[in-house]
Amino acid sequence: MRKIKTAVFGTGFVGRVHVEGIRRLGNVELAAIAEQGDERAKKFAAEVGVERSAGDYRTLLDDKEIQAVHICTPNFLHFPMAKAALEAGKHVVCEKPLATSVAEAEEMVKLARAKNLANCTNHNLRYYPMVQHLRRIREAGELGDILCVQGTYSQDWLLYDTDWNWRIDSKDGGKLRVFGDLGTHWCDMIQHVTGLQITALCADLQTFHKTRKRPKGAIETFAGKTLKPEDYEVVPVDTEDFAAIMIRLGDRARGAFTVSQVSAGRKNGLSIEVYGTKGSAAWAQERPDELWLGQRNSPNQVMIKDPSLMAEKARSYADLPGGHSEGYDDTFKQIFRRFYRTVEDRSAPAEYPQFSDGLHEMRICEKVLESSTKHAWVDVPSTKTESAAS
Ligand SMILES: NC(=O)c1ccc[n+]([C@@H]2O[C@H](COP(=O)([O-])OP(=O)(O)OC[C@H]3O[C@@H](n4cnc5c(N)ncnc54)[C@H](O)[C@@H]3O)[C@@H](O)[C@H]2O)c1
Repeated sequence: MRKIKTAVFGTGFVGRVHVEGIRRLGNVELAAIAEQGDERAKKFAAEVGVERSAGDYRTLLDDKEIQAVHICTPNFLHFPMAKAALEAGKHVVCEKPLATSVAEAEEMVKLARAKNLANCTNHNLRYYPMVQHLRRIREAGELGDILCVQGTYSQDWLLYDTDWNWRIDSKDGGKLRVFGDLGTHWCDMIQHVTGLQITALCADLQTFHKTRKRPKGAIETFAGKTLKPEDYEVVPVDTEDFAAIMIRLGDRARGAFTVSQVSAGRKNGLSIEVYGTKGSAAWAQERPDELWLGQRNSPNQVMIKDPSLMAEKARSYADLPGGHSEGYDDTFKQIFRRFYRTVEDRSAPAEYPQFSDGLHEMRICEKVLESSTKHAWVDVPSTKTESAAS
Protein backbone atom coordinates (compact mmCIF):
# COMPACT_ATOMS: atom_id res chain seq x y z
CA MET A 1 0.00 0.00 0.00
CA ARG A 2 1.27 3.46 -0.87
CA LYS A 3 1.18 5.67 2.21
CA ILE A 4 0.14 9.32 2.26
CA LYS A 5 3.25 11.45 2.88
CA THR A 6 2.88 14.25 5.38
CA ALA A 7 4.99 16.92 7.09
CA VAL A 8 4.82 18.61 10.51
CA PHE A 9 5.64 22.33 10.81
CA GLY A 10 6.75 23.24 14.35
CA THR A 11 8.16 20.65 16.76
CA GLY A 12 7.46 22.15 20.19
CA PHE A 13 4.94 20.81 22.71
CA VAL A 14 2.10 19.97 20.35
CA GLY A 15 4.26 19.23 17.27
CA ARG A 16 5.68 16.23 19.13
CA VAL A 17 2.17 15.00 19.91
CA HIS A 18 1.29 15.30 16.20
CA VAL A 19 4.42 13.30 15.28
CA GLU A 20 3.34 10.47 17.59
CA GLY A 21 -0.30 10.66 16.50
CA ILE A 22 0.60 10.44 12.80
CA ARG A 23 2.77 7.41 13.46
CA ARG A 24 -0.12 5.55 15.02
CA LEU A 25 -1.99 5.61 11.68
CA GLY A 26 -1.54 2.80 9.21
CA ASN A 27 -1.92 4.81 6.01
CA VAL A 28 0.33 7.84 6.63
CA GLU A 29 4.10 8.32 6.58
CA LEU A 30 5.77 11.23 8.37
CA ALA A 31 8.12 12.27 5.56
CA ALA A 32 9.47 15.59 6.80
CA ILE A 33 9.50 18.15 9.60
CA ALA A 34 10.09 21.90 9.55
CA GLU A 35 11.46 23.83 12.52
CA GLN A 36 12.97 27.26 12.89
CA GLY A 37 16.61 27.01 11.74
CA ASP A 38 18.34 24.16 9.90
CA GLU A 39 20.25 22.93 12.94
CA ARG A 40 17.20 22.63 15.21
CA ALA A 41 15.22 21.00 12.43
CA LYS A 42 17.97 18.46 11.74
CA LYS A 43 18.40 17.65 15.43
CA PHE A 44 14.69 17.00 15.96
CA ALA A 45 14.44 14.92 12.76
CA ALA A 46 17.36 12.76 13.91
CA GLU A 47 15.80 12.34 17.37
CA VAL A 48 12.49 11.05 15.99
CA GLY A 49 13.90 9.27 12.93
CA VAL A 50 12.43 11.43 10.17
CA GLU A 51 14.48 11.50 6.99
CA ARG A 52 13.90 15.03 5.75
CA SER A 53 14.06 18.29 7.69
CA ALA A 54 13.90 21.95 6.77
CA GLY A 55 14.76 25.20 8.52
CA ASP A 56 12.36 26.92 6.13
CA TYR A 57 8.96 25.20 5.72
CA ARG A 58 8.51 26.63 2.21
CA THR A 59 11.15 24.30 0.81
CA LEU A 60 8.89 21.34 1.72
CA LEU A 61 5.92 22.81 -0.14
CA ASP A 62 7.76 22.33 -3.45
CA ASP A 63 7.88 18.57 -2.83
CA LYS A 64 5.06 17.00 -4.89
CA GLU A 65 5.29 13.78 -2.86
CA ILE A 66 4.12 15.54 0.32
CA GLN A 67 0.32 15.61 0.21
CA ALA A 68 -0.54 17.06 3.64
CA VAL A 69 0.93 19.27 6.33
CA HIS A 70 0.30 19.77 10.06
CA ILE A 71 0.73 23.35 11.30
CA CYS A 72 1.91 23.31 14.93
CA THR A 73 3.54 26.73 15.20
CA PRO A 74 2.63 29.88 17.17
CA ASN A 75 -0.75 31.31 16.16
CA PHE A 76 0.49 34.21 13.99
CA LEU A 77 2.09 31.66 11.61
CA HIS A 78 -1.09 29.61 11.05
CA PHE A 79 -2.45 31.89 8.33
CA PRO A 80 0.69 32.36 6.19
CA MET A 81 1.65 28.69 6.50
CA ALA A 82 -1.85 27.37 5.72
CA LYS A 83 -2.25 29.77 2.80
CA ALA A 84 1.09 28.75 1.29
CA ALA A 85 0.33 25.05 1.85
CA LEU A 86 -3.14 25.24 0.29
CA GLU A 87 -1.78 27.20 -2.66
CA ALA A 88 0.79 24.42 -3.13
CA GLY A 89 -2.08 21.88 -3.19
CA LYS A 90 -1.51 20.34 0.27
CA HIS A 91 -4.27 19.14 2.60
CA VAL A 92 -3.93 20.94 5.96
CA VAL A 93 -4.38 20.15 9.64
CA CYS A 94 -4.00 23.47 11.47
CA GLU A 95 -3.74 23.92 15.20
CA LYS A 96 -6.25 26.06 17.04
CA PRO A 97 -6.98 28.94 17.22
CA LEU A 98 -7.22 28.76 13.43
CA ALA A 99 -5.84 32.27 12.88
CA THR A 100 -5.39 35.59 14.64
CA SER A 101 -8.38 37.34 13.00
CA VAL A 102 -11.76 36.62 11.41
CA ALA A 103 -10.49 37.99 8.06
CA GLU A 104 -7.59 35.50 7.99
CA ALA A 105 -9.87 32.61 8.94
CA GLU A 106 -12.39 33.58 6.24
CA GLU A 107 -9.65 33.55 3.62
CA MET A 108 -8.47 30.12 4.77
CA VAL A 109 -12.01 28.70 4.52
CA LYS A 110 -12.44 30.17 1.02
CA LEU A 111 -9.09 28.94 -0.24
CA ALA A 112 -9.53 25.39 1.06
CA ARG A 113 -12.98 25.25 -0.52
CA ALA A 114 -11.77 26.65 -3.87
CA LYS A 115 -8.94 24.11 -3.98
CA ASN A 116 -11.13 21.25 -2.72
CA LEU A 117 -8.50 20.31 -0.13
CA ALA A 118 -9.14 18.57 3.19
CA ASN A 119 -8.87 21.10 6.01
CA CYS A 120 -9.02 20.48 9.75
CA THR A 121 -8.94 22.84 12.74
CA ASN A 122 -7.38 20.68 15.42
CA HIS A 123 -10.09 20.71 18.08
CA ASN A 124 -8.92 17.25 19.09
CA LEU A 125 -10.51 17.41 22.56
CA ARG A 126 -13.88 16.49 21.03
CA TYR A 127 -12.51 12.99 20.56
CA TYR A 128 -12.33 11.72 24.12
CA PRO A 129 -14.56 8.61 24.05
CA MET A 130 -16.81 9.82 26.89
CA VAL A 131 -17.31 13.21 25.22
CA GLN A 132 -18.51 11.35 22.14
CA HIS A 133 -20.79 9.21 24.32
CA LEU A 134 -22.26 12.37 25.87
CA ARG A 135 -22.85 13.82 22.41
CA ARG A 136 -24.67 10.68 21.29
CA ILE A 137 -26.94 10.35 24.35
CA ARG A 138 -27.86 14.03 23.94
CA GLU A 139 -28.69 13.37 20.25
CA ALA A 140 -30.82 10.39 21.27
CA GLY A 141 -32.85 12.72 23.54
CA GLU A 142 -31.73 11.15 26.82
CA LEU A 143 -31.06 14.56 28.38
CA GLY A 144 -34.20 16.16 26.92
CA ASP A 145 -33.97 19.76 25.68
CA ILE A 146 -30.82 21.55 26.78
CA LEU A 147 -31.51 24.27 29.34
CA CYS A 148 -28.09 25.32 30.58
CA VAL A 149 -24.38 24.57 30.37
CA GLN A 150 -21.54 25.38 32.76
CA GLY A 151 -17.84 24.78 32.97
CA THR A 152 -14.28 25.97 32.92
CA TYR A 153 -10.93 25.46 31.26
CA SER A 154 -8.35 26.26 33.91
CA GLN A 155 -4.57 25.81 34.02
CA ASP A 156 -1.84 27.17 36.31
CA TRP A 157 1.28 27.36 34.18
CA LEU A 158 1.20 31.19 33.78
CA LEU A 159 0.42 31.94 37.45
CA TYR A 160 3.68 33.77 38.30
CA ASP A 161 5.01 36.89 36.66
CA THR A 162 8.19 34.92 35.95
CA ASP A 163 6.19 32.53 33.70
CA TRP A 164 6.64 33.35 30.03
CA ASN A 165 5.51 31.97 26.68
CA TRP A 166 5.03 33.40 23.17
CA ARG A 167 1.23 33.31 23.83
CA ILE A 168 1.60 36.29 26.22
CA ASP A 169 2.62 38.65 23.39
CA SER A 170 -0.38 39.52 21.18
CA LYS A 171 1.94 39.80 18.15
CA ASP A 172 2.59 36.04 18.33
CA GLY A 173 -0.60 34.67 19.86
CA GLY A 174 -3.33 37.12 18.83
CA LYS A 175 -5.22 39.72 20.86
CA LEU A 176 -6.84 37.12 23.13
CA ARG A 177 -4.53 34.77 24.97
CA VAL A 178 -6.33 32.49 27.42
CA PHE A 179 -9.60 32.67 25.51
CA GLY A 180 -7.90 31.96 22.16
CA ASP A 181 -5.89 29.13 23.69
CA LEU A 182 -8.45 27.46 25.99
CA GLY A 183 -11.79 29.20 25.41
CA THR A 184 -11.89 28.10 21.76
CA HIS A 185 -11.52 24.44 22.86
CA TRP A 186 -14.26 24.83 25.49
CA CYS A 187 -16.67 26.51 23.05
CA ASP A 188 -15.95 23.94 20.36
CA MET A 189 -16.69 21.08 22.76
CA ILE A 190 -19.88 22.54 24.22
CA GLN A 191 -21.27 23.32 20.77
CA HIS A 192 -20.29 19.88 19.51
CA VAL A 193 -21.97 17.97 22.33
CA THR A 194 -25.12 20.12 22.53
CA GLY A 195 -25.50 20.64 18.76
CA LEU A 196 -26.19 24.34 19.53
CA GLN A 197 -24.18 27.33 18.33
CA ILE A 198 -23.28 30.21 20.66
CA THR A 199 -25.49 33.10 19.52
CA ALA A 200 -24.62 35.85 22.03
CA LEU A 201 -22.14 36.44 24.85
CA CYS A 202 -21.01 38.77 27.60
CA ALA A 203 -17.35 38.59 28.58
CA ASP A 204 -15.18 40.01 31.36
CA LEU A 205 -11.39 39.77 30.90
CA GLN A 206 -8.67 40.34 33.46
CA THR A 207 -4.90 40.68 33.15
CA PHE A 208 -3.57 40.18 36.67
CA HIS A 209 0.07 40.66 35.69
CA LYS A 210 0.30 43.97 33.87
CA THR A 211 4.01 43.26 33.37
CA ARG A 212 5.92 39.96 33.21
CA LYS A 213 9.56 38.96 33.33
CA ARG A 214 10.50 37.67 29.90
CA PRO A 215 13.54 35.36 29.66
CA LYS A 216 16.13 36.48 27.15
CA GLY A 217 16.42 33.02 25.49
CA ALA A 218 13.65 31.11 23.67
CA ILE A 219 11.57 28.61 25.68
CA GLU A 220 9.06 25.89 24.88
CA THR A 221 5.45 25.71 26.14
CA PHE A 222 5.18 24.56 29.78
CA ALA A 223 8.98 24.71 30.16
CA GLY A 224 8.80 28.05 32.04
CA LYS A 225 8.41 26.61 35.50
CA THR A 226 11.66 24.67 35.26
CA LEU A 227 13.68 27.81 34.41
CA LYS A 228 15.63 29.81 37.01
CA PRO A 229 14.36 33.36 37.53
CA GLU A 230 17.42 35.10 36.13
CA ASP A 231 18.22 36.90 32.90
CA TYR A 232 14.68 38.27 32.52
CA GLU A 233 13.52 41.59 31.16
CA VAL A 234 10.32 43.24 32.41
CA VAL A 235 7.78 43.76 29.61
CA PRO A 236 4.20 45.07 29.54
CA VAL A 237 1.47 42.44 28.98
CA ASP A 238 -1.33 43.07 26.47
CA THR A 239 -3.28 39.78 26.77
CA GLU A 240 -5.63 38.42 29.46
CA ASP A 241 -4.86 35.85 32.21
CA PHE A 242 -8.52 35.07 32.94
CA ALA A 243 -11.97 35.45 31.38
CA ALA A 244 -15.52 34.90 32.64
CA ILE A 245 -18.15 34.51 29.92
CA MET A 246 -21.94 34.23 29.92
CA ILE A 247 -23.41 32.69 26.77
CA ARG A 248 -26.67 32.05 24.95
CA LEU A 249 -26.83 28.88 22.85
CA GLY A 250 -29.45 28.59 20.11
CA ASP A 251 -32.77 30.26 21.03
CA ARG A 252 -33.30 29.03 24.55
CA ALA A 253 -30.27 27.57 26.32
CA ARG A 254 -28.06 29.64 28.61
CA GLY A 255 -24.62 29.09 30.08
CA ALA A 256 -21.53 30.41 31.81
CA PHE A 257 -17.88 29.39 31.92
CA THR A 258 -14.43 30.65 32.88
CA VAL A 259 -11.00 30.24 31.32
CA SER A 260 -7.79 30.74 33.26
CA GLN A 261 -4.04 30.21 33.11
CA VAL A 262 -3.52 31.37 36.70
CA SER A 263 -5.50 28.78 38.75
CA ALA A 264 -2.96 27.09 41.05
CA GLY A 265 -3.21 23.31 40.93
CA ARG A 266 -5.34 23.12 37.81
CA LYS A 267 -3.11 21.47 35.22
CA ASN A 268 -5.47 20.88 32.33
CA GLY A 269 -8.83 21.42 34.03
CA LEU A 270 -11.40 21.40 31.25
CA SER A 271 -14.89 20.55 32.47
CA ILE A 272 -18.33 20.74 30.94
CA GLU A 273 -21.76 20.31 32.53
CA VAL A 274 -24.87 19.95 30.39
CA TYR A 275 -28.33 20.22 31.99
CA GLY A 276 -31.45 19.18 30.09
CA THR A 277 -35.17 18.85 30.79
CA LYS A 278 -34.79 15.09 31.45
CA GLY A 279 -31.29 14.67 32.88
CA SER A 280 -27.76 16.00 32.93
CA ALA A 281 -24.17 14.99 32.30
CA ALA A 282 -20.77 16.25 33.42
CA TRP A 283 -17.28 15.42 32.15
CA ALA A 284 -13.79 16.55 33.18
CA GLN A 285 -10.59 16.18 31.15
CA GLU A 286 -8.45 15.24 34.17
CA ARG A 287 -10.65 12.12 34.66
CA PRO A 288 -11.41 11.44 31.00
CA ASP A 289 -12.78 7.90 31.27
CA GLU A 290 -15.62 8.96 33.60
CA LEU A 291 -18.98 10.52 32.74
CA TRP A 292 -21.29 11.71 35.52
CA LEU A 293 -24.98 11.28 34.73
CA GLY A 294 -27.43 13.26 36.87
CA GLN A 295 -31.08 12.28 37.48
CA ARG A 296 -33.82 14.09 39.34
CA ASN A 297 -35.80 11.01 40.47
CA SER A 298 -33.22 8.22 40.63
CA PRO A 299 -29.66 7.84 41.90
CA ASN A 300 -26.93 9.57 39.89
CA GLN A 301 -24.41 7.41 38.05
CA VAL A 302 -20.73 7.55 37.14
CA MET A 303 -20.22 5.68 33.90
CA ILE A 304 -16.72 4.35 33.20
CA LYS A 305 -15.58 4.19 29.58
CA ASP A 306 -16.31 0.77 28.14
CA PRO A 307 -17.06 0.47 24.42
CA SER A 308 -19.57 -2.31 25.07
CA LEU A 309 -21.61 0.08 27.27
CA MET A 310 -21.22 3.16 25.08
CA ALA A 311 -23.75 4.49 22.59
CA GLU A 312 -23.23 2.58 19.36
CA LYS A 313 -22.27 5.66 17.32
CA ALA A 314 -19.62 6.62 19.93
CA ARG A 315 -17.89 3.22 19.99
CA SER A 316 -15.50 3.89 17.12
CA TYR A 317 -13.90 6.65 19.26
CA ALA A 318 -12.70 4.10 21.84
CA ASP A 319 -10.00 1.66 20.68
CA LEU A 320 -9.43 -0.08 24.01
CA PRO A 321 -11.72 -2.14 26.27
CA GLY A 322 -13.10 -0.87 29.59
CA GLY A 323 -10.54 -0.21 32.31
CA HIS A 324 -7.83 0.71 29.77
CA SER A 325 -7.53 4.49 29.81
CA GLU A 326 -7.71 6.59 26.67
CA GLY A 327 -6.41 10.11 27.08
CA TYR A 328 -5.08 13.27 25.44
CA ASP A 329 -2.70 11.51 22.97
CA ASP A 330 -5.49 9.26 21.76
CA THR A 331 -7.67 12.21 20.74
CA PHE A 332 -5.03 13.15 18.14
CA LYS A 333 -5.04 9.65 16.69
CA GLN A 334 -8.84 9.76 16.42
CA ILE A 335 -9.01 13.13 14.67
CA PHE A 336 -6.08 12.37 12.31
CA ARG A 337 -7.60 8.99 11.39
CA ARG A 338 -10.78 10.77 10.27
CA PHE A 339 -8.86 13.53 8.50
CA TYR A 340 -6.72 11.12 6.46
CA ARG A 341 -9.80 9.11 5.50
CA THR A 342 -10.90 12.23 3.57
CA VAL A 343 -7.42 12.76 2.11
CA GLU A 344 -7.54 9.21 0.76
CA ASP A 345 -11.09 9.56 -0.51
CA ARG A 346 -12.26 13.12 -1.20
CA SER A 347 -15.90 11.94 -1.28
CA ALA A 348 -15.76 10.56 2.29
CA PRO A 349 -17.68 12.63 4.89
CA ALA A 350 -15.49 14.95 6.96
CA GLU A 351 -16.13 13.75 10.52
CA TYR A 352 -13.86 16.33 12.13
CA PRO A 353 -13.81 20.09 12.75
CA GLN A 354 -12.94 21.93 9.57
CA PHE A 355 -11.67 25.45 8.92
CA SER A 356 -15.28 26.65 9.02
CA ASP A 357 -15.45 25.50 12.67
CA GLY A 358 -12.20 27.40 13.32
CA LEU A 359 -13.73 30.46 11.65
CA HIS A 360 -16.72 30.26 14.00
CA GLU A 361 -14.31 30.18 16.96
CA MET A 362 -12.54 33.27 15.57
CA ARG A 363 -15.91 35.06 15.38
CA ILE A 364 -16.51 34.15 19.03
CA CYS A 365 -13.02 35.49 19.92
CA GLU A 366 -13.73 38.78 18.15
CA LYS A 367 -17.03 39.12 20.04
CA VAL A 368 -15.41 38.30 23.40
CA LEU A 369 -13.03 41.20 22.85
CA GLU A 370 -15.84 43.51 21.71
CA SER A 371 -18.05 42.57 24.66
CA SER A 372 -15.33 43.09 27.25
CA THR A 373 -14.38 46.45 25.71
CA LYS A 374 -18.01 47.66 25.63
CA HIS A 375 -18.97 46.02 28.97
CA ALA A 376 -22.04 44.69 27.14
CA TRP A 377 -23.78 41.66 25.64
CA VAL A 378 -23.04 41.17 21.91
CA ASP A 379 -24.52 38.86 19.26
CA VAL A 380 -22.31 36.27 17.59
CA PRO A 381 -22.92 35.89 13.82
CA SER A 382 -23.86 32.33 12.89
CA THR A 383 -21.41 30.28 10.81
CA LYS A 384 -22.32 27.47 8.47
CA THR A 385 -19.96 24.76 9.71
CA GLU A 386 -19.25 21.74 7.57
CA SER A 387 -18.42 18.82 9.87
CA ALA A 388 -20.50 15.74 9.04
CA ALA A 389 -22.91 14.75 11.82
CA SER A 390 -22.00 11.06 12.01
N1 LIG B 1 -4.86 20.99 20.24
C1 LIG B 1 -4.19 21.06 21.37
O1 LIG B 1 -4.49 20.32 22.32
C2 LIG B 1 -3.04 22.03 21.49
C3 LIG B 1 -2.17 21.96 22.59
C4 LIG B 1 -1.08 22.85 22.65
C5 LIG B 1 -0.91 23.80 21.66
N2 LIG B 1 -1.79 23.88 20.63
C6 LIG B 1 -1.59 24.88 19.55
O2 LIG B 1 -0.43 24.48 18.81
C7 LIG B 1 0.34 25.61 18.40
C8 LIG B 1 1.76 25.47 18.94
O3 LIG B 1 1.73 25.50 20.35
P1 LIG B 1 2.86 24.80 21.24
O4 LIG B 1 2.32 24.80 22.61
O5 LIG B 1 3.30 23.52 20.64
O6 LIG B 1 4.04 25.88 21.12
P2 LIG B 1 5.60 25.63 21.30
O7 LIG B 1 6.19 26.96 21.53
O8 LIG B 1 5.86 24.55 22.28
O9 LIG B 1 6.03 25.09 19.85
C9 LIG B 1 5.97 25.89 18.70
C10 LIG B 1 7.13 25.45 17.79
O10 LIG B 1 7.02 26.14 16.55
C11 LIG B 1 8.35 26.45 16.13
N3 LIG B 1 8.38 27.50 15.11
C12 LIG B 1 8.28 28.85 15.29
N4 LIG B 1 8.40 29.46 14.09
C13 LIG B 1 8.56 28.49 13.15
C14 LIG B 1 8.74 28.50 11.75
N5 LIG B 1 8.78 29.63 11.06
N6 LIG B 1 8.86 27.30 11.11
C15 LIG B 1 8.81 26.13 11.80
N7 LIG B 1 8.67 26.07 13.14
C16 LIG B 1 8.55 27.23 13.81
C17 LIG B 1 9.02 26.87 17.44
O11 LIG B 1 10.43 26.90 17.31
C18 LIG B 1 8.50 25.79 18.37
O12 LIG B 1 9.32 24.63 18.36
C19 LIG B 1 -0.44 26.82 18.93
O13 LIG B 1 -1.24 27.34 17.91
C20 LIG B 1 -1.31 26.27 20.06
O14 LIG B 1 -2.51 27.00 20.25
C21 LIG B 1 -2.84 23.00 20.54
